[in-house]
Amino acid sequence: MARTDAFGYDLTVTSQEAVAAWDRTVQAFLAHAAATPTHLGAALEAEPDFALAHVAKGFFMLLLGRRELIDTGQEAFETASRIVGTASTARERAYVDALGLYLTGDMRGAADAMDRTLLAYPRDALALKLVQAMRFVMGDGAGMRASIEAVLPHYDDHAAAPYVNGCYAFALEETGDYRAAEARGRDAVLRARDDAWGVHAVAHVFDMTNRAQEGVTWLVNQPETWAHCNNFRYHVWWHLALFHLDRGEHAEVLRLYDAEIRAEHTDDYRDISNAASLLIRLELDGVEIGNRWEELAAICENRTEDGCVVFADLHYVLALASGDKAQSAQRLLHTMQRNAQMQQATTMGQVSAEAGVPAAEGLIRFANGDYASAFSALKAARPAIQTVGGSHAQRDVFERLTIDAALRAGMMGEARGLIHDRTRRRGALDGYAERRLERIGVLEADMAEAL
Ligand SMILES: [Fe+2]
Repeated sequence: MARTDAFGYDLTVTSQEAVAAWDRTVQAFLAHAAATPTHLGAALEAEPDFALAHVAKGFFMLLLGRRELIDTGQEAFETASRIVGTASTARERAYVDALGLYLTGDMRGAADAMDRTLLAYPRDALALKLVQAMRFVMGDGAGMRASIEAVLPHYDDHAAAPYVNGCYAFALEETGDYRAAEARGRDAVLRARDDAWGVHAVAHVFDMTNRAQEGVTWLVNQPETWAHCNNFRYHVWWHLALFHLDRGEHAEVLRLYDAEIRAEHTDDYRDISNAASLLIRLELDGVEIGNRWEELAAICENRTEDGCVVFADLHYVLALASGDKAQSAQRLLHTMQRNAQMQQATTMGQVSAEAGVPAAEGLIRFANGDYASAFSALKAARPAIQTVGGSHAQRDVFERLTIDAALRAGMMGEARGLIHDRTRRRGALDGYAERRLERIGVLEADMAEAL
């Protein structure tokens, strides 16, 4: 008997129990729920030859961005390939093919393939969400937006409509359409109280448009919307801390860091990036952060051979260089340089070459106090920095370091130009930019007086 998933698409499985567990898996994945692997495990237990469940496991492993999980992703791919070789639908085979591309290092090809699958099966919200996840890792906001807009009319009466709206809100925000992003995101969260990505998309709008107080209110009034999440919940707390940082409320930032953002000393790359990014922003604003680098740097010492996701590598380098682990920072830089040379055919190899290596060199030089040379390396990385992935808010740490490197090197004109460029893209002057422009004014006045 043919089975169908919650969105009406055929599944090559026999057990209704497996289908129910699969639908719960997809629902949980859309909501960034911690329960996602539990539901996936139940689906595979009910039906060990469940091809799409193996493919999902493969994607989930790769999206964790850890070299040691690639083998598990490869095993999931091989199992799924064997199963779809006997009996399957074209949709299931397309998923397997996309996972295969991802495993060869062609993440762009995998996302394009999954986009084609989405066009053929436009109500497949799992395909949609996987495209969003992969394009996010590549910093491809325009691609995220185009992917959703191609199928949006199919979600008017769809069970996953709020989550798709939440994704759309984020894609709109990343492409600078802040007003539409806020409206979509608010609507998504009203309709699905566990749409953590939608809540987070609206937080991004507040970040980019200098509305820190509204951001604080938005998040503190509805912590239940992300309480169910996996590590993603730490990232939402990170956004709350950014709003407080913008307002100069440093004690609250440090409290959130200890009580929420690093409540658990995990080594997930997204957690490390939240933490490292926040600590360096605090330091750039002159805040004493105590011995917090030590904990991060100790964890990052185990990641020097990773080279899996450039965004992750850069934050490991940041933590290592800032936490007095210069040799380990150099070792990771060598890993990135090797990837840039040896893996030019892969998406991450290209990103390493164009943005990763110069940015990592800039981070190390900044930590060493070589501000002029840090500035030149960070500036060299800047044209391609979007490709390292993440969001505008996350990559802003590299922008801030570039600006501060220029300032510390006495390059006032360069710093001012970068601040204006940053402000133009963000849509408003924030606390960070105001403080830097004020400092430039004071320094220039001092220089004029000295002449
Ligand atoms: Fe974010």
